Amino acid sequence: MSKMWTGRTDGVTSKLADDFNSSISFDSKMIKEDIEGSIAHAMMLAKQNIISENEKNCLIDGLSSILEDVLSGKLAIDMTAEDVHMFVEQVLTERVGDTGKKLHTARSRNDQVALDFRLYVKKEIKEIISLIKEVLSALTVQAEQNASTIMPGYTHLQRAQPITFGHHLMAYAMMLIRDIDRFNDCYKRTNVSPIGSCALAGTTYNTDRFYEAKLLGFDGVCSNSLDGVSDRDFTVEFISCCATLMMHLSRLSEEIILWSSWEFKFIELSNAYTTGSSIMPQKKNPDMAELIRGKTGRVYGDLMGILTTLKGLPLAYNKDMQEDKECLFDACDTVKACLSIAAPMLATMKAIPENMLLAAQKGFINATDLADYLVKKGMPFRTAYKISGTIVSECIEKNTVLEKLPLSEYKKHSDLFEDDLYKEIDLLTCVEKRVSFGGTSVKSVNDQIKIVKGFLN
Ligand code: ARG
Repeated sequence: MSKMWTGRTDGVTSKLADDFNSSISFDSKMIKEDIEGSIAHAMMLAKQNIISENEKNCLIDGLSSILEDVLSGKLAIDMTAEDVHMFVEQVLTERVGDTGKKLHTARSRNDQVALDFRLYVKKEIKEIISLIKEVLSALTVQAEQNASTIMPGYTHLQRAQPITFGHHLMAYAMMLIRDIDRFNDCYKRTNVSPIGSCALAGTTYNTDRFYEAKLLGFDGVCSNSLDGVSDRDFTVEFISCCATLMMHLSRLSEEIILWSSWEFKFIELSNAYTTGSSIMPQKKNPDMAELIRGKTGRVYGDLMGILTTLKGLPLAYNKDMQEDKECLFDACDTVKACLSIAAPMLATMKAIPENMLLAAQKGFINATDLADYLVKKGMPFRTAYKISGTIVSECIEKNTVLEKLPLSEYKKHSDLFEDDLYKEIDLLTCVEKRVSFGGTSVKSVNDQIKIVKGFLN
């Protein structure tokens, strides 16, 4: 494709330089946004009498036909073009003649690319939020079914206190709600139009940036033209939202992997979301969860990439900024693929409550409740803590559990112990009594489910 910027030079560059410079192989992803932006630009130019109504119509027809033909496959993207903006403008001029050359009045590729990129990010944020909601729904259904399924809660990966599986799953739901909130917040700052900043300094034409921004669905316009073309904060923020979301999905995946191991066997993944081994016939591997965990690393890499690219750039546009796209596209595609697989994987997994209960019955996870029992009878907590710890160590020696230790043994430590202690250290009681807001009682878990459902509607 011939160069539109010949003039200052003869435009004869080495093929190596052309290939190195070109972004068409990845920025053609934004062709829809580019054409949408150009149509709005033509409308603004006509409204301001910078071009005629006829010229506007001719530009819009030409631009629409390009999009149609690219989408239908009739027009192939020319991979020798410098970028998507040059490609569209060149084809437009081929199709509509000299009028095509008027489209670039009062704009530059610098504000054009910033515009396209913001439009693209806005669209992706909406898609990602709706995919997060699918994962949230899957978690909520599982939590509803397991609101009273007892399992051990862990700290340091050591059994700590009894909780319900529903409570555990709802913890992830809360993270995802924050993720949605973060993306919505990022949307606000992305939703500001840079078009009309032109190359860097604004323009001498009587443009109407507010009208053009409104046509494109923006809430406002960037207030400084230098900042308008140089600002990629929204890219950093967006990838940062992706990285945090991936961190949450990765932590959940890690638990899925642990829970589906024979050591735990708290859940069974559906065959549809596991793989076998080429040599070990017994294997059922949680590859999807492992890949989600693994892909988190590349999204973190995307974030480091963009931050590092931007850190030393003087104002305004520098070609370094072309490097903003691949990392963002990669983060976007990775996040969407991970969310798309996480939703059905979670929806189809089966909890195994018997195994969770077995694990909960070992590990003295009701020891806190034993101490609390004494506290409620008037003993200071530290003293009660010490007695309970001593009783646990006796149980370990005798190879028994708190529930089975006879009252006479308890009495040796304190007269406050009565028969009612057994009810108090029953796992179900331990869970049911955790009624503090956000706690693990069945009612509290159901309240949390209600919060998530309210959020989904
Ligand atoms: N392909 C370029 C990019 O993605 C478009 C902007 C080019 N601007 C320029 N002054 N060379 O950043």
